[in-house]
Amino acid sequence: MIPPDPDLLCADAPRLADALTAAGWSAPALDELLGGTARGHLDRGELAPLLRRTGGGSPLETLARLFVLGVPVSLSASRRAGVPETWLRPDGYGVAAPVRLESVLHDGIEVRIAHDPSRAAGDAAQPDQVLGLGAASRTLAAATPRTPVGRTLDLGTGCGVQALLAVSHSSTVVATDVNPRAAGYTRLAAALNGVHLDVRTGDLLEPVAGELFDLVVSNPPFVLGAPGGDGGVRHTYRDAGPDGDGLCRRLVAGLPSVLVEGGTAVLLANWLHVEGEDGDDRVRSWFGPDVDGWVVQRELAAPQDYVTAWLRDTGEPAGFEQAYGGWLDWFAERRVEAVAFGILALRKRRDGGGRVGVDEVPQQVAPAWGEQVPAFFAGQDALDRGVLATAWRLRDDVRLHSVAERTEQGWQVQAQLLRQGSGLRWSGGVDVYGATLLAGCDGTRRLGELLAVLAASAGIGEDEAAEQVVPVVQRLVEQGFLIP
Ligand SMILES: C[S@@+](CC[C@H](N)C(=O)[O-])C[C@H]1O[C@@H](n2cnc3c(N)ncnc32)[C@H](O)[C@@H]1O
Repeated sequence: MIPPDPDLLCADAPRLADALTAAGWSAPALDELLGGTARGHLDRGELAPLLRRTGGGSPLETLARLFVLGVPVSLSASRRAGVPETWLRPDGYGVAAPVRLESVLHDGIEVRIAHDPSRAAGDAAQPDQVLGLGAASRTLAAATPRTPVGRTLDLGTGCGVQALLAVSHSSTVVATDVNPRAAGYTRLAAALNGVHLDVRTGDLLEPVAGELFDLVVSNPPFVLGAPGGDGGVRHTYRDAGPDGDGLCRRLVAGLPSVLVEGGTAVLLANWLHVEGEDGDDRVRSWFGPDVDGWVVQRELAAPQDYVTAWLRDTGEPAGFEQAYGGWLDWFAERRVEAVAFGILALRKRRDGGGRVGVDEVPQQVAPAWGEQVPAFFAGQDALDRGVLATAWRLRDDVRLHSVAERTEQGWQVQAQLLRQGSGLRWSGGVDVYGATLLAGCDGTRRLGELLAVLAASAGIGEDEAAEQVVPVVQRLVEQGFLIP
């Protein structure tokens, strides 16, 4: 089937938006209508359970059938639901929708997006396919700081979801993509949401050369080493191309040129861990001296697991074996031991001397933790000013958990654990002195003063206490337990 042209739908998008609103189209309403297992059914092409839940003929059920399930409905049902005929094409005895719609709810912000129908079971994704919300989209949305800013850029906007989420906290949003169909879908989504987006087509930073932004977000095509296609790029939305993690490296190197001083960029990336090299050093080397950087490594996959996961994701056709072998050869030729996935954050500095922190964060994190990005850089600034000279404050969501064993004398505490209730949800053991010190960190007294009291009560010198405590406090600051 010919892929839909989203630009042809723009003119009647406001009419469709009115129909959606009138029918009560929203993320919670669709969840209630379709049930909590709808996503899994759709991914597996199991429509029967969803058809059963949408057989009542209400406008919301008709809209869900057309735009979520992707099945035909009768022309009269589509008219009752208020769907403009430009949004429909004949299908058997009825009409069907050429595109899919989703309502995305993230941290209290709800937006409507449009995208290509997902592949039917057994078909591979098209090279210029525009996808809806995926796991990576959610990862970037979660990592995006939502502090109000002036100008935001969403680079590699796809269906436009990050750009639309950014509208709620930006005065202006520019969205760019190399795929003209993605730019079309983003214009369509802007019309469906009744908001303005400045949508441009072009390669990486080229469409915004010479402009400055307060915030840049990007979920670029970061998948490494996929074989085949024009110049090594088979799926525009996914494949980083022939020079592997070079695309993410070039992006990190170029981003400072479009950031205002103090401006932030957050992007997703994959990078290689090559035999005999330090993977952390590789990604660290991408950041120039004019930025501070933070690398949040979420996963480290062996090449065979990486390749299998991505081949499954695109539903490769019959040639799974061939693609698998060729892809693994690409890694073997480059002596790749593992592929890292993570979030990279940059803050533009006034002068040189930028530093890069690398954290492995395998634990489950909060669904929205973007406020940790500015907090991380603020913590680094405070450490630069002096760890003992700062009046640190324990973050409000930190709790101390005690694990106790029953003994003849009653409960005996064996271990104490600090846990964050939000953000990256770090947790870690702490001894009784550490717990006492942290209890005193209320933002009113400098660490040096607290340490003097602690040293006296422990009967040790202040220098000795500082030697033990300062590295621990530094780590607690880096992990966000203590804030300036
Ligand atoms: C993984 S998708 C992200 C879509 C969306 N931003 C999200 O978060 O769901 C990557 C997007 O980057 C676009 N893209 C690929 N290569 C690009 C390039 N060289 N310059 C700009 N955009 C590019 C693709 O067309 C695709 O829309």
